[in-house]
Amino acid sequence: MILINKPTELHEKIKEERQKGRSIGFVPTMGALHEGHLSLIQVARSNHDLVVVSIFVNPLQFGEGEDFETYPRDIDRDQELCRQEAVDILFAPSVSEMYPETASVEIKVVEGVDVLCGQSRPGHFDGVATVVLKLLHMVWPDAAYFGQKDAQQVAVIKQMVKTLSMPLSIVASPTVRESDGLAKSSRNVHLTKDERQIAPKLYQTLLEAKEHASGGANRKELISFIQKRLETLTLGRVDYVDVLSYPKLEQVEELSGTIILALAYHFSHARLIDNIIIEK
Ligand code: PAJ
Repeated sequence: MILINKPTELHEKIKEERQKGRSIGFVPTMGALHEGHLSLIQVARSNHDLVVVSIFVNPLQFGEGEDFETYPRDIDRDQELCRQEAVDILFAPSVSEMYPETASVEIKVVEGVDVLCGQSRPGHFDGVATVVLKLLHMVWPDAAYFGQKDAQQVAVIKQMVKTLSMPLSIVASPTVRESDGLAKSSRNVHLTKDERQIAPKLYQTLLEAKEHASGGANRKELISFIQKRLETLTLGRVDYVDVLSYPKLEQVEELSGTIILALAYHFSHARLIDNIIIEK
């Protein structure tokens, strides 16, 4: 595995590999890798000749007062994990290498961002789309791999790639969970011991809501079912709960087709998100 910090160096290496006719799979991350990230790397590994992973904590996608400064970083451990997964190139640029000058063009996501994380983190998906677009230009992969845990992110990126006619596929993989159901997240390390104990209730609540949905509940009933259960938790507070069509993310009162049940929850030092997707 080679570690590359400079976009120009990455360009050279990618050009060589492309000339050899090798297919390239790409997994963008913000590091502090866990089994969720590794599952994406494993799928990429099985589909491509060359696997590129990026680690970059992207300041553009963090709002004021969010956790950019305290976001967990451990490049040595990440490097070791990537080596174990037979990653070919680990790309870890600095902020000044990614954003060397003031931007002459701005990326603004205009579809699917008035709900969920787009609503509670204004500008977040503009930052995500900007960095993903830049990374895709640098790596120019045949396919890029994303987790369904960030379902809105997958929907936004798929639409962006389509809108901009980019010749690559966006592949989504299922959410990897701890044995008690808590979705793996780099932010889980910021949970206190007591918060960690109740955090699996987020996923349990979504599963109970799924049962409720199969009993015929409509959108409003499901939202209030989830909200009431989350309000009984003794720590933290609800950021949002919503039930929408997927991937369009539209409000549909009578549920049919593919539906996402999604929530975000604030603990003292970590905001966690989770979702499940059901067929009605
Ligand atoms: P990050 O949170 O590091 O996640 C990198 C990728 O791993 C994303 O596609 C995310 O959905 C996926 N992932 C995270 N937890 C997962 C889990 N438990 N199971 C399966 N996949 C999981 O998402 C980002 O970084 C950034 O927004 C990024 C796309 C890198 C742009 O900065």
